[in-house]
Amino acid sequence: MEVKKAVIPAAGFGTRFLPATKAQPKEMLPIINKPTIHFVVEEIIKSGIEDVLIVTGRGKRAIEDYFDKNVELEDHLRRIGKRDLLREMQELSDMVDIHYVRQKKQLGLGHAILCAERHIDGEPFAVLLGDTIVRSEVPCTKQGIELFRKYGGSMVGVERVKREDIERYGIVGGVRRGEVFEVDKLVEKPKPEEAPSNLGIIGRYVLTPTIFDALKETKEGIGGEIQLTDAISVLLGGEKVYAYEVAGSRYDIGNKLDYLRAVVEFGIRDEEIGEEFKRYLRGIIR
Ligand code: UTP
Repeated sequence: MEVKKAVIPAAGFGTRFLPATKAQPKEMLPIINKPTIHFVVEEIIKSGIEDVLIVTGRGKRAIEDYFDKNVELEDHLRRIGKRDLLREMQELSDMVDIHYVRQKKQLGLGHAILCAERHIDGEPFAVLLGDTIVRSEVPCTKQGIELFRKYGGSMVGVERVKREDIERYGIVGGVRRGEVFEVDKLVEKPKPEEAPSNLGIIGRYVLTPTIFDALKETKEGIGGEIQLTDAISVLLGGEKVYAYEVAGSRYDIGNKLDYLRAVVEFGIRDEEIGEEFKRYLRGIIR
């Protein structure tokens, strides 16, 4: 079956990035002048998906406003002759068909995905965390969709993580099968000595709709949250699940160091300011 829909969970509290996330969603933190979630939606479009569901929560109105049409702003840009900016704003609101569902209580990532059940309506679908950007030649979700077609089972995007970071990730264990790993174990935030490998889940998935039944069976896990990782473990009882090593650079914007890496790495590649920014960096690093 084709993957035609994508879900972006974006309802979390963003506690790691307080106080900035007290009055604005983490997913709206900009990398230079583009909000994080804009990169995520672009990845979806470049992966061939045209139907996006964003799971939002309290205080997330800014996300809806961002993708909405702003007639007053467009009139203003027209009046002052800023045609390029006007076109950019119009393209943004026409980008893709975006739907919203509210997660009334922030009970965890797994619970956020469960809120998408009705919209997904029994089809396989992609999940992209709204606070994670992947810079890659082939869009990360496209990599997952192609492997999903080839292997015919849910695909979890992973990357090798340092031992000291293992406790921050969902970790998968499995056996190599060609380009992927056939998963036999998933553990959310294990101690390094209990982790089945160093393959950390990075926030890109292609899932079969059976995940919704699995989520309904899933009890609160680590941190008192309904964990998507635990629900995928339930899936293992009835179907094959695979992990693919993502080709690209991944930034978890809710993590301070990753946020800075993203700003610097996108900054040095920026068409307008990249060269000057590189000169500046060379000047301050001795
Ligand atoms: P995180 O694990 O980063 O959680 O969520 P968080 O609460 O947003 O941030 P911290 O850890 O407190 O700093 C990963 C993604 O899942 C979404 C978040 O918005 C983020 O994009 N999420 C998380 C939900 O949509 N609902 C939840 O209940 C939890």
